[in-house]
Amino acid sequence: MFINVTDQQGRRHRLEALEGFRVMEVIRDWGLDIKAECGGACACATCHVHVGGDWQDRLHAPLDEEIDRLDEAFDVRDNSRLSCQLLMSEELDGLEVRLAPGTERDRRDAA
Ligand code: FES
Repeated sequence: MFINVTDQQGRRHRLEALEGFRVMEVIRDWGLDIKAECGGACACATCHVHVGGDWQDRLHAPLDEEIDRLDEAFDVRDNSRLSCQLLMSEELDGLEVRLAPGTERDRRDAA
């Protein structure tokens, strides 16, 4: 299965994903620029994505913890989610997300 990710420069990537992995992990493991500072513990909001198309309605609703954490993110919209809280399954095959501002790694981290 695949997910489609648009990076902060507007480039679109089609990434193969395995069941049970977090969407954040798929994006990170393919080498895209995602900070994901807390490693998926819902504690940083640097894995923030905007969900594309009608996908927002097809995802499970966010837990309170995710909603609280999103309060700390930049450019939060109705279609904002934390990609570490989305687990890959067949239902998410074809998911469209865009990396939100503030998810870039620091220059020194990327070096
Ligand atoms: S990686 Fe930190 S909240 Fe998702």
